[in-house]
Amino acid sequence: MTNTDPIRFAHRHLLDIARLNASDITQILSLAEHYAELSRTPDKNRDLLRGKTQINLFFENSTRTRTSFELAGKRLGADVINMSVDSSSVKKGETLIDTAMTLNAMHPDVLVIRHGDSGAPHLLAQKVDCAVINGGDGSHEHPTQALLDALTIKRRKGRLEGLTVAICGDIQHSRVARSNIALLNIMGARVRIVGPTTLIPSNAAKMGVEVYNKMSEGLKDADIVMMLRLQTERMQGSFVPSIREYFHFFGLNAEKLSVAKPDALIMHPGPMNRGVEIDSETADDLNNSAISEQVEMGVAVRMACLDLLTRGGK
Ligand code: CP
Repeated sequence: MTNTDPIRFAHRHLLDIARLNASDITQILSLAEHYAELSRTPDKNRDLLRGKTQINLFFENSTRTRTSFELAGKRLGADVINMSVDSSSVKKGETLIDTAMTLNAMHPDVLVIRHGDSGAPHLLAQKVDCAVINGGDGSHEHPTQALLDALTIKRRKGRLEGLTVAICGDIQHSRVARSNIALLNIMGARVRIVGPTTLIPSNAAKMGVEVYNKMSEGLKDADIVMMLRLQTERMQGSFVPSIREYFHFFGLNAEKLSVAKPDALIMHPGPMNRGVEIDSETADDLNNSAISEQVEMGVAVRMACLDLLTRGGK
């Protein structure tokens, strides 16, 4: 599939997984698969987005998401601007909407936004003329992370349907967990969430997941073990007694992993806190850890999203 294909993406923006259906997700993953292969070749640049302008607007820190969106845009030939919020007029009190309207007046084609407030990209999408991609909004969603996780799983396991995926750790504050739960449910996987009661959302029963408070039970026969960071920047108050105790009960190591399937895939969206939610031996496992591949697939998925959203769909 290339940008010249007549098939159009059914959405103008990518704001969350909740708005996508199985066919949308399959369309993104199949194009991303093409870009993953292309990215492994020496001649990896294309000019599909030549003349298009992409602005990355990150109000929160990022290594993987911002860099891969920049790389994805550049590989497709777009003019990519990384707006530095710290040196922008946001620091002089300009509001999110006024900032967005200012950027909109410069006629960008795509705006990628990360913001600490849930719903900020949705608000922006109502105000600007271009496509908006959510690069992570508060504890709400991180749709391209779930898509890159899905691509990684599909490439390693050949499918998503029927797999048992254990998402472990700080579910309460995690936009990665919310997007992954939504996507995996749509694609027919069986989702478990595992963590201390304090880090399990109060509405977990409505999320289409099985809830476990013990790693030995939640990881049993799992195909995928996805670890999450403690999102201390979103915590008000204390959610775990101590880091040492948290690692003892919920940190992934060889012993805890031993109850999962022998070929269980180890995943982490990053950034990792080694010795807190995962030990180094497990994170760096040459056969079963897919953590580096997740980063690689991030570029491919973001190329696919940029491609599809600039085709002039709805
Ligand atoms: N996974 C992820 O969103 O990482 P960054 O915060 O580094 O972008």
